[in-house]
Amino acid sequence: MRGLQNKVGIVAGGGRGIGAATARRLAEEGAHVVIGDIVEDWAKEVAQSIASTGGSAVGVHLDGTSPDSQQAIVAKAVEQFGTLNFFHSNLAGGTEGDVNALECPLDVFDKSVSINAKSHLIATQAALPVMLENGGGAMIYTSSGAASGGSTWQVAYPMTKNAIHALSRHVAAKWGKKGIRANVICPGLVLTEAVEQHMTKEQVETGLKAVPHVRLGHPDDIAAVVALLASDDGAWINGQVYHVNGGTQMRD
Ligand SMILES: NC(=O)c1ccc[n+]([C@@H]2O[C@H](COP(=O)([O-])OP(=O)(O)OC[C@H]3O[C@@H](n4cnc5c(N)ncnc54)[C@H](O)[C@@H]3O)[C@@H](O)[C@H]2O)c1
Repeated sequence: MRGLQNKVGIVAGGGRGIGAATARRLAEEGAHVVIGDIVEDWAKEVAQSIASTGGSAVGVHLDGTSPDSQQAIVAKAVEQFGTLNFFHSNLAGGTEGDVNALECPLDVFDKSVSINAKSHLIATQAALPVMLENGGGAMIYTSSGAASGGSTWQVAYPMTKNAIHALSRHVAAKWGKKGIRANVICPGLVLTEAVEQHMTKEQVETGLKAVPHVRLGHPDDIAAVVALLASDDGAWINGQVYHVNGGTQMRD
């Protein structure tokens, strides 16, 4: 992939799963990566494993819902590696108790808004000033196929994931002329630790039946598209929503 060598990027929510795979892929492509996670040990472990194979990475604590913490991770990237070229805003959580619209408690909804929507705005507010000063950069947000899939069992998660699409289009439209690109990835069912924790074997089997492909997703499938969107090969991709799902949802 062109244009990732010596670029500097942040993976927020990079301690495991899709974020960890993305941090590894970006480092393999020659980027310097700052990995942030609410579980600091995970972020540091991923950074150490990258460094042990010759890559350039540092792991830090990040609470994505805190403006101070998001400012601190951006400052860390600049201090450690000199600049910030891209930001993968990947974190999610707080889905416990999220059920249908008639029964979803409002405190559960508010928590989901804070983690799954507001954190991405806060990340944008922290990262964009540095990128604008540099003449450009790329925001890459992780949404979900749940945003468009018509979930019957959860309301807050799909609502908040849709909010990210509007944020990305806003950023793309408002600052595209200043060199900023903003795009969204909607993964389908990807086999991560979180899926193992939160989904039953039956749900995973049902997911496999629904995909017109021989397998479910691997974290590396998503990492590859993040790398494209962060790289110079993605230089003319702006304001788009990428569905990476083996064909589960086929969308224009
Ligand atoms: N795995 C899938 O099938 C799937 C499908 C669709 C979308 N996604 C999305 O992909 C992304 C990654 O998913 P994953 O499966 O790797 O799940 P995950 O839960 O393992 O990844 C989320 C990461 O964010 C971190 N995090 C949570 N709250 C945080 C906070 N406040 N501040 C900083 N870090 C925080 C977690 O510790 C975790 O490391 C998420 O946005 C998820 O919604 C995943």
